[in-house]
Amino acid sequence: MIQIAVLGYGTVGSGVVEVIETNKADINKKAGEELNVKYILDLRDFPGDPYESKVVHDYNIILNDPEVAIICETMGGQKPAYDFTKQALLAGKSVCTSNKELVAAHGPELIQIAKENHCNYLFEASVGGGIPIIRPLNYSLTAEKIDGITGILNGTTNYILTKMDKEGADFEEVLKEAQEKGYAERNPEADVEGYDACRKIAILSSLMCGKNVKYEDIYTEGITKISAADFKYAKQMNKSVKLLAMSRDTQDGFFAMVAPFMISREHPLYSVSDVFNAVYVHGNMLGDSMYYGRGAGKLPTASAVVSDVVDCARHQGKTIMCFWDAEDVQVADIGEAKRKFFVRVKADQREAAMEAFGSLAEVNVGLTDEFAFMTQVLSEKEFDEKLEKAGGCINRIRMMA
Ligand code: HSE
Repeated sequence: MIQIAVLGYGTVGSGVVEVIETNKADINKKAGEELNVKYILDLRDFPGDPYESKVVHDYNIILNDPEVAIICETMGGQKPAYDFTKQALLAGKSVCTSNKELVAAHGPELIQIAKENHCNYLFEASVGGGIPIIRPLNYSLTAEKIDGITGILNGTTNYILTKMDKEGADFEEVLKEAQEKGYAERNPEADVEGYDACRKIAILSSLMCGKNVKYEDIYTEGITKISAADFKYAKQMNKSVKLLAMSRDTQDGFFAMVAPFMISREHPLYSVSDVFNAVYVHGNMLGDSMYYGRGAGKLPTASAVVSDVVDCARHQGKTIMCFWDAEDVQVADIGEAKRKFFVRVKADQREAAMEAFGSLAEVNVGLTDEFAFMTQVLSEKEFDEKLEKAGGCINRIRMMA
């Protein structure tokens, strides 16, 4: 029997216990041994809960129990998750986590400690919730040189943008409704400002490069400036607006960013709606492949954590290879990244915009107090210079090629 401990009995932690219980027979068969949740660490007590007797408040009980072989870290945040994880790995206990913040900040160090102690630090649930994406990048696509990843990696913002698209509503209105329904956090900053997606693309990019892509180096822009009017223009162009997290390994360098993009109906990511996530991967042999599913939520995320537990059970005493070295990747300045831009300026800036941008394609939805257009392909730097000459804008959205 393999003894497991769950750190944090919140949404994901309780989901882990539920997944192990519900699919017990199948999971045990696949793990090759029976799995048993021996401890649940939480600050709270859970009177009446069927697992009440397993709840402990002192981490040392878990750490010092030689029977515990696998720990599920579903606490989130860096403190005390970092210390707990490090201590567990140093003690030779594998750790499976959903904690993207910790993985993005300390991934290579924790992977290395796991390696030195013949155990594993696995993080399938840290990106895309229940979508298998870490394992495909680590195992299935090893014959590929992956040169592009584009993801819809945040369920909250995708839900908000989908509603804005369908209902013609404004950002604030939809956010309020999403908060009332419990889809968006009371403090939605990490989601709507793109920070959550930034951590996730940092993790995927690191696996793509085999080296460390620091999340601090990734240009990140959220969706707070996107309005109902932007969606009117998007519709006119047969497009929608999506918050994309992307990285590209090009001859000109390694680029990564998180920002809202105009995306065409023809693109597979266009149809990824509501809280769903998807990751679109380009490899030099395979071409494009896409991984789609529920990117958040109790059971989907817990399912990914438990899949890692099964992997640890199958590889006891061995470390599963993960190519993520501590060496930092030089992330190129996005000023050099080239693309078309959609721009809205005030009606009286029409001449100035035409002069500054030269060749442009007007987009008209009948809003008489503004002038909207699509630029030619420009670098971000060129675009900023031209926009300044034109006198700034109401909004501008990058176009997905
Ligand atoms: N807040 C995240 C989201 C949860 O909305 O996608 C999953 O990481």
